[in-house]
Order: sequence, then C-alpha cells, then structure tokens
Amino acid sequence: MKIDYQEPSKDLLMRIDIHEKYGSANIDEWTNDLLKPQAGMSILDVGCGAGKLSFLFDDYTKKQAKITGGDFSEELLDKARAKNKERGSNIEFQFLDFNEKFKFEDNTFDLCTSAFAIYYASDLKFTFGEAHRVLKPGGRLFVSGPLPENKQMFYDIIKEATNAEIPPMPGSSRFKSDIFNTIDGIFAKTELHKFENHLTFPEVKPFIDYVRASLGEDRRLWTSMFNGPEEYEALIGKIEAVATRWFERDGKLVMTKVVGGILATK
Ligand SMILES: C[S@@+](CC[C@H](N)C(=O)[O-])C[C@H]1O[C@@H](n2cnc3c(N)ncnc32)[C@H](O)[C@@H]1O
Repeated sequence: MKIDYQEPSKDLLMRIDIHEKYGSANIDEWTNDLLKPQAGMSILDVGCGAGKLSFLFDDYTKKQAKITGGDFSEELLDKARAKNKERGSNIEFQFLDFNEKFKFEDNTFDLCTSAFAIYYASDLKFTFGEAHRVLKPGGRLFVSGPLPENKQMFYDIIKEATNAEIPPMPGSSRFKSDIFNTIDGIFAKTELHKFENHLTFPEVKPFIDYVRASLGEDRRLWTSMFNGPEEYEALIGKIEAVATRWFERDGKLVMTKVVGGILATK
C-alpha cells in the first residue's frame, strides 16, 4: 500500500512544541530509559525529521555515539543540519527513503530507531527487512508510534463536528497488528512498551493549533474530509465550535496520547 504522506516542518515543530508545553510526561525520558544508548554505539535514526531523536541520543551519550539521521524531506534535513551545526554536534544527516534499499552495508548499526515515521512505509516487510539487514547481530530496533487508543478525544471531537468517517491513520490503525507482527516475524525477540501522556489545554486555541498542525492539507492524511482551503477552514470552524462546547462544559480539554514502543533484537 503506497502512502502519500508529507510532513511540513512547521506542522511537525508545532506538534512537538505543543507536546512539550501541555504534556504531563516526557517521551524523551521514556525513550532514553528504554534504550540507554551508549558512547561508541553506531545509531541510525530513520525518518529523523528535524532530528529530535538523534539530538536526544547525542545529548545522552555526551556526543560520544556515531549517529546517522536519515529522512526523505530535504526541508527537515536542512533544519536538522542547521541545529547540528549550532550545537557543534557531529551527527550525519542524509537523504534516506525508507521505501528504498538503505544505502548501508549489512551489520553496520548497534541501534536503529524510528520515531513516528517508519509506519508510513509502503511495504512493511521490505522496510523492516532493511532495518534488520543493517543492524549488527544482537543489534536493536526501536519503533515508536501511536496505539489505536491514541488521542481518542481528538477523534471524538472531529466526529461530533463532522459526522464523517475519520480516515484510517497509517500508524495507529496498524501499530499493534501489522507493524508489530511484521517486526516480530523478522527479529529474534520483540517487545511492546507503552507510554501515556495527558495533554491538558487550558484554553481552546492551542488545541486548534494542534488540530491545524495535524489536518493540514500538505500532510495529505486528512484530505478525504475537505476539498481546498475554504472547506478546510469550514471544517476547522466546526471543530472549534465543538471544542469550545466541550471546554465550557469541562473547564479544560484533555487529550491523551498513547504511544507504543516496539523494541526488537536481531
Ligand atoms: C511525524 S515525523 C517524525 C520525525 C521525527 N522522527 C520526530 O520524532 O520528530 C515523520 C517523518 O517521517 C518522514 N518520512 C515519511 N516518509 C518517509 C520516507 N519514505 N522515507 C524517509 N522518511 C520519511 C517525514 O519526512 C518526517 O520527517
């Protein structure tokens, strides 16, 4: 299944910022506790975006790991490279399309990670096969992504506002099933971990900012729900009206992110 998905940097950075401002828990700590990356390790971060996870590991290992971040968005890679320079880090950010053969030798990396990215792969067996191939024996794969129960309130508000069918999301709709099972079929050992983060919005506006950064036409995930900018604005208006009603009723808006982490060993 080909998934025509793009991630504009302004939307991605807006969502990251909202998680940091309104979240109750820190996904970075959860990730580091689970993986404990070590100095000297070779790490590949697939679908690295603006480099969030690559920089996290760089900090955790005090710049002593050899980290490569790969993404197919030159816009996001440029952002990552600029930050890399500004921090004086030595991470290699390069073009990588995870629907193509990875341009690395077999048995190269100790750790291969992918945060909220690799589940957009068109052919899961092929892409996870590539991750397995480039990992050293005993190397680990870590894939994080939304579980089916993720941000139920967000979908409930959109449903109430539109009465329309919500398009299936490539991540949450198949994280525990196709994605977990594909990895489990390729790797020697596979575990599923869970992280919960309650985002409490003290007013409606940041929630709508989050909605805009999720439904944006450029991401091409939600386009079945609107046709062009006018319909998009009308849709956002309906969502805002329902969110305002919920806010007046409950005094706040709480959206719980439920994230899965698949940790597999070659
Ligand atoms: C939601 S973002 C996550 C980025 C980053 N891992 C983070 O946690 O901030 C998803 C990323 O997957 C990338 N992506 C989508 N399809 C891709 C593909 N075929 N090959 C490589 N990267 C891809 C996007 O460009 C984007 O950077």
